[in-house]
Amino acid sequence: MTTAVPLDDAQFYADDPDPALADLRRRCPVYYHPAGNFWVLTRHADLQEVSKDPARFCSGQGVLLADRARAIAAADSILYLDPPIHGRYRKLVSRAFTPRTVATLEPRIRQLTVELLDQLDPTVPVDAVDALSAPLPLFVIAEMLGVPASDREAFRRWSDAIMEAATDLNDANAALAAELLLYFDERLQARVDHPGDDLLSALVTATVDGERLTRDEQLGFCMTLLVAGNETTRSLITGGLIALAQHPEQRAQVVADPGLLPQAVEELLRWVTPIMAMARTATGDTAVGGEPIAQGDYVVLSYAAANRDEEAFGPDAARFDITRSPNPHLAFGFGEHYCLGAGLARVEARVLFDELLRRWPFFQLAGEPTRVPSTLLRQVAHLPILFDPSRGEHPSPSVGPSHSPS
Ligand code: HEM
Repeated sequence: MTTAVPLDDAQFYADDPDPALADLRRRCPVYYHPAGNFWVLTRHADLQEVSKDPARFCSGQGVLLADRARAIAAADSILYLDPPIHGRYRKLVSRAFTPRTVATLEPRIRQLTVELLDQLDPTVPVDAVDALSAPLPLFVIAEMLGVPASDREAFRRWSDAIMEAATDLNDANAALAAELLLYFDERLQARVDHPGDDLLSALVTATVDGERLTRDEQLGFCMTLLVAGNETTRSLITGGLIALAQHPEQRAQVVADPGLLPQAVEELLRWVTPIMAMARTATGDTAVGGEPIAQGDYVVLSYAAANRDEEAFGPDAARFDITRSPNPHLAFGFGEHYCLGAGLARVEARVLFDELLRRWPFFQLAGEPTRVPSTLLRQVAHLPILFDPSRGEHPSPSVGPSHSPS
């Protein structure tokens, strides 16, 4: 089958890929993309099948579209580890992300949120990415890593550069990434001399099979936590602001009944799907959905497409519905590599929308979101928002939906 869907073109994703992905899912759910030499799976059931079988579809040879152009080192990230070693490494940091630990962080997350909201002028258009969605996840993960508040701004620059390098490596972002590695290296060394109770201390004291982690492995963990926890949650919050502003009737429901917030966050996760795709490699000749897949073939899992699959979400899968239940979305992946920070991201989004909607339940988009081309992340660089239109003197702009019905 031929198709004009440019599945490896970053601009395609910035221009709202959902209708084309839905079409692909209906016409050819297990699709071989000759131009990129990879398969793309778009059905919810197929993504689950592949994700829960790392012996058949491994992560060790790459998980991003961009990974195929570079060498992967296992120390880079637990994202690239396969069983049985993957589980042993995951356990090293999983204690920091248990529901219990995350619950203890909630008051601090609320405090940080309130401080950010206090700094906003709600009567003029504000870039919500800069003011809210970027700083909150960054401050939270920085504190978990034991990074002082004075280093937060440098942290933000580094984190942005690393995310950019994941899809478009260049000299400038490589230099910033090197700066961050150096920073972590110094701080890890400081924990060797004076261990505390933060995540960095856990990394320098941890052992796997009796062996301490190498410094490269420790650095890989730091980078993974920083990047995985930052841009993704930023994307969820930004996308959530857009979706709620564009669906005022649904927003009014949550305002009237804040008990709906956890469900609303699940629907925002499904609707936004911050990480649009991850990939696996077939470890032997196999088949998915009746299509033969050869050993070594690269298989892209389109979470964005699977999260609108009518077979999983019913005939109204293309509708934003904050009361949707059940909501088995795959925004956090599935199986072995299921997102370690899912609980943390959920709390950050719930607390932020709780505090925001209580203050300014009628916030409006004040211009078009500036979308960033990326094959990985649903990303917005700038989002002008007028938080309290009743006090501003700004006419209501007409901003179209970010995702047309598929
Ligand atoms: C809305 C926010 C988030 C989204 C959408 C998201 C999405 C994902 C997805 C799809 C995966 C699976 C990757 C794969 O299967 O190859 C993943 C893994 C991971 N995420 Fe998240 N994530 C979010 C927030 C976070 C946060 C806040 C953290 C930590 C601070 C985090 C840490 C991780 C880690 C460490 C992994 C790797 C787990 C493993 O390989 O076992 N994520 N995430």
